[in-house]
Amino acid sequence: MTTKLGSAKQGAADKSDSVTLTDNQTGKTYTFPVLTGTDGPRVIDTRKLYAETGMFTYDPGYTSTASCESKITFIDGDAGVLQYRGYPIDELAKHSDFMEVCYLLLGGELPKAEQKSAFVRDVGSHSMVHEQMQYYFRGFRRDSHPMAVMVGAVGALSAFYPESADVRSPEQRRDAQIRLLAKAPTLAAMAYKYSIGQPFVYPRNDLGYAANFLRMCFAIPSEDYVVKPSVARAMDRIFILHADHEQNASTSTVRLAGSSGANPFACVSAGIASLWGPAHGGANEAVLNMLTEIGSKDRIPEFIKKAKDQTSNFRLMGFGHRVYKNYDPRAAVLRESCHEVLEELGMRDEPLLDLAMELERIALEDKYFIERKLYPNVDFYSGILYRAMGFPTSMFTVLFAVARMVGWIAQWTEMMEDPEHRIGRPRQIYTGHNRRSYVPIAGR
Ligand code: SDX
Repeated sequence: MTTKLGSAKQGAADKSDSVTLTDNQTGKTYTFPVLTGTDGPRVIDTRKLYAETGMFTYDPGYTSTASCESKITFIDGDAGVLQYRGYPIDELAKHSDFMEVCYLLLGGELPKAEQKSAFVRDVGSHSMVHEQMQYYFRGFRRDSHPMAVMVGAVGALSAFYPESADVRSPEQRRDAQIRLLAKAPTLAAMAYKYSIGQPFVYPRNDLGYAANFLRMCFAIPSEDYVVKPSVARAMDRIFILHADHEQNASTSTVRLAGSSGANPFACVSAGIASLWGPAHGGANEAVLNMLTEIGSKDRIPEFIKKAKDQTSNFRLMGFGHRVYKNYDPRAAVLRESCHEVLEELGMRDEPLLDLAMELERIALEDKYFIERKLYPNVDFYSGILYRAMGFPTSMFTVLFAVARMVGWIAQWTEMMEDPEHRIGRPRQIYTGHNRRSYVPIAGR
C-alpha cells in the first residue's frame, strides 16, 4: 500500500567519557557516562542516577535535558544552524521541494527519481478523507477556531482508519505516516472552508502538494482557481521551513503520547493542541495581531517598552527562542520570501512588512534584546506571507500544523522503531503537605 522508506544509520553515540558527582551531604561520589553524538553538546547519561543516588534531576522546561537520541534534525542555536538529516535548511529551501524533504525526514536519505515519484503517488492516493468525515465537521459551529477543528479532525482519523492504528505493525505505521501526511492539507482546507461557509473542495492529485492545498482552500464551484506558480512555490518553501525542529514542545508532546502506545492519529492530535499555544506555533497568529495593534511605526517604541517591562506579561511575539540565540535561519529565508511574494502579488508596499522590518531593526539595536539574544524566529515573518496569500490569521497555526505533520510523524516513528523506547514518566520534587490525618467536616 505504501513505499518502503529506507532508513539511514549514522554513528551511534560514543560512550567513552564520564563525569563524577560528589554528594556534599554524604561525601559519596558517583560516576556517570558522558555520551558524545555526531554533533552538538555532549550529554550526561543520568538513567541510573536515581537507582545509584536516590536523587532526581530537576529541570522544569527541560532547558538542559536531552529527552531522546535522534538522527532526524540538528539545531545549533548559537550559530543559527538547522539541518534535516544533515542537509542545511537554506539549501533544502532553495533546491528541494516539500515532498522530497518529507521523504528525507521519514527515510533518512534524499530519494532517487523513481523513489520520489512512487512516494508522491502514494501520498496522492491517500489525499481524500472518508466521505463521512464531512459530517464530523458539521458538528462544529461555523465560527469555531480552525485549530479546534484540526485537533478534533486529526484525532478522529483513528476512528476512520483503525487498520492503520496498530503501532506494533511496521506496515500499519507506514500506512499511518502516509495517511497523516496526505490528509493533513485536505482536513486543513476543510476547516478553512467550513469556517467561511463555502463548500469543501476535493483534492486533485495532478497538482503538487502545496498547489493542491491552495486550490482546496481558495477554489469555489462557480469559478475556476488557477494557483500562481510563485505562490505555490512560496507555500512549498514555507512547508519545508516548518517541517521539523528537533524536540520542540509539540514534538515532545507527540513522543510522550506515543510512548504509551497510543495510535499515531491521537498522538499527532495532541501535538496539534500543543502547537496551538501562543508561546509555540500560535505565535504566528499573535504576531499579526500584534503588528495590527501597533498599526504605525511611531507606536513601535511604546510596544518595545512594554515588552521590556518585566511586570507586564506582554512579549514581542515572533521574537526569542529557547534554542536559537542567533537569527532563526528560517526567519531569514521567510523574510526573503516576503519580498519576493509581495512583489509578485503587487503588494510591494504592504505596510505590515514595512512595520515588521522597522520593529526588527529597532529591537535588534536595543540592549534588552541584545543581552537576552532575542532575535526574530520562524513566526515573525510567516504571518505576513500567509496574509498576502489570502489566509485569515485564524488559519496561520493550521498552516504550521500542516507543515509540521511530517516532523511529528518522523519523530514518532523513530521512537517506535527504537527497541529501547519506554513509556515517558517524569518524576518531581514534592513540596506539598507531609502526611496528615483526615478531619471530619464537623471538626474543620
Ligand atoms: C516556535 O522550540 C521550538 O523549536 C519552537 C519552534 C518550532 O519550530 O517548533 O521554533 C516554533 O515556537 C517559535 C517561538 C514562537 N514563540 C514566540 O514568538 C512567542 C514569544 N517568545 C517567547 O515567549 C519566548 O522567547 C519563547 C517562549 C519562544 C522562549 O522562551 P524561553 O526560552 O523560556 O525564554 P524565557 O521565557 O526564559 O526568556 C528569557 C528572557 C526573559 O527575560 P529575563 O527574565 O531573563 O529578564 O528573555 C525575555 C524573558 O522575559 N523574553 C522576551 C521575549 N522572549 C523572551 N522578552 C520580550 N519579548 C519576547 N518575545
